Amino acid sequence: MFCYLGSMPPDLSEIRRHYQEAGLSEEDVPRDPLKLLTDWLDQATAAGVYLPNSMTVATVGDQASPSLRAVILRRTDSEGLVFYTNYESRKSRDIARHSQVSCLLLWSELSRQIRVSGHAVRISARESDAYFETRERGAQVEAWASPQSEQIPDRVHLEAKFGEYEKKFAGGPIPRPPHWGGYRVSPQEIEFWQGRPNRMHDRLLYEKQANGSWLISRLAP
Ligand SMILES: Cc1cc2nc3c(=O)[nH]c(=O)nc-3n(C[C@H](O)[C@H](O)[C@H](O)COP(=O)(O)O)c2cc1C
Repeated sequence: MFCYLGSMPPDLSEIRRHYQEAGLSEEDVPRDPLKLLTDWLDQATAAGVYLPNSMTVATVGDQASPSLRAVILRRTDSEGLVFYTNYESRKSRDIARHSQVSCLLLWSELSRQIRVSGHAVRISARESDAYFETRERGAQVEAWASPQSEQIPDRVHLEAKFGEYEKKFAGGPIPRPPHWGGYRVSPQEIEFWQGRPNRMHDRLLYEKQANGSWLISRLAP
């Protein structure tokens, strides 16, 4: 059993070696890939990885053109992975046309990555409201001021918009803009990749079955 003592600085190369040696076996992994994903996220956090919950999301645009961007994975639950964004952004326009997305969590310090494929669906307005309330005030103002992904004349314009909304909401709570909220990615496939010596890496693929259970198979590295 590997254990990291919180008071000591983590030695990432030691931690990486531990995971490389332990590997991933079909017998030991949980049946539920979201449980394994949460465990890996917790381990990356404990290891001191910078922004362990940053996640790359790929969407498909017109003419099947893919595009990628980093977001922050804010929550995982039994239904999937939740991130927040502007509902009028490029990614949201893509999702409106093709809800299929692919996400990547990468912790190179631990020789690990997770690839998720699934559909992105807006979470409820109530859930988005609840999260928006917890955001810092500056981030709340920014959500109103920034037409994410649109071309803007210059930085001065953006700062003027920020100032306008700061003034508009001065002294009171800031409501969630209707164009801002969360998506939940409901996974259909999740692949866990653990780096091993000699490039003999472990890759376990979970595929969701019609009855909701997960089929686990091994892929060649
Ligand atoms: C580490 C990191 C975290 C980010 N987190 C978010 C996020 O949670 N939500 C978001 O909308 N943009 C986030 N961004 C900005 C996006 O990468 C991207 O620039 C923005 O969402 C616009 O993307 P789009 O034009 O493809 O829609 C983050 C960027 C970085 C580098």
